[in-house]
Amino acid sequence: MAHIIVVGNEKGGAGKSTVSMHVATALARLGYRVGALDLDLRQQTTGRYCDNRRRFLESEGLELPSPHYMELPQVDPSELAPGENAYDHRLSKAVSMLEADSDFILIDCPGSHTRLSQVAHTLADTLITPLNDSFIDFDLLARIDGDGEKILGPSVYSEMVWNARQLRAQAGLKPIDWIVLRNRLGAQQMINKMKMEKALERLSKRIGFRIAPGFSERVIFRELFPRGLTLLDLKDIGVKQLNISNVAARQELRDLMSTLDLPEVEIRF
Ligand SMILES: Nc1ncnc2c1ncn2[C@@H]1O[C@H](COP(=O)(O)OP(=O)(O)O)[C@@H](O)[C@H]1O
Ligand SMILES: [Mg+2]
Repeated sequence: MAHIIVVGNEKGGAGKSTVSMHVATALARLGYRVGALDLDLRQQTTGRYCDNRRRFLESEGLELPSPHYMELPQVDPSELAPGENAYDHRLSKAVSMLEADSDFILIDCPGSHTRLSQVAHTLADTLITPLNDSFIDFDLLARIDGDGEKILGPSVYSEMVWNARQLRAQAGLKPIDWIVLRNRLGAQQMINKMKMEKALERLSKRIGFRIAPGFSERVIFRELFPRGLTLLDLKDIGVKQLNISNVAARQELRDLMSTLDLPEVEIRF
């Protein structure tokens, strides 16, 4: 059985696709077989990221370990059971097609509440939620009071995860290991940063997620996409000396991969 990693958050621009590509490629580089799906059928960022990678590697004559990206298969209406949702069918078909040849399946979700995203969350062995360091993003996890001190209650996205957890429990599946990752951390904004840290820690105990150290705001993340590269590939394309920021970013990725604590994965990069 492949271990399914879902990257989700109902907010766009949180870093889901960036994190998806980095985690999937990191696992491929560690020698695992990684299948990748992109449920953002409109933007297809992960799909395009993988396409860019294939084209770049081809043009350079390079072979680097890569995730195996698959588009959601189309279904013929005659394949559907009575009352079955076509999206559910497409997703489960994709997962079962990938499962045979994958150690891990990574599923990148859209930044909105869709049927596909909802179903994907019920499939997650590991759920990664990247979060911008802003209380606007925090608001999708929980409502808090004016000082950011007191948690008033869960909000839409956590409730969706809670439902997914319930469904898994009813089906006798193992619980979702939920990791919230702080993304685009700034060098300044110390007060906001500390407030977010405290609020997240309190919330993590209440609704049951773990917190990963996260990524700083770094221009390199924005530059890699056109060539389909990740931080881990830079040396292989001939970058001799990584600059300090890139070395630090690699360390952040290493820390994330260790925090994920995936079955049998030993981080060697
Ligand atoms: N740590 C980071 N530092 C700088 N830019 C980032 C970082 N993470 C993501 N980005 C940029 O933020 C934007 C949104 O990221 P993306 O991965 O597409 O988010 P999502 O998939 O959640 O919508 C992209 O332009 C991406 O390059
Ligand atoms: Mg995306």
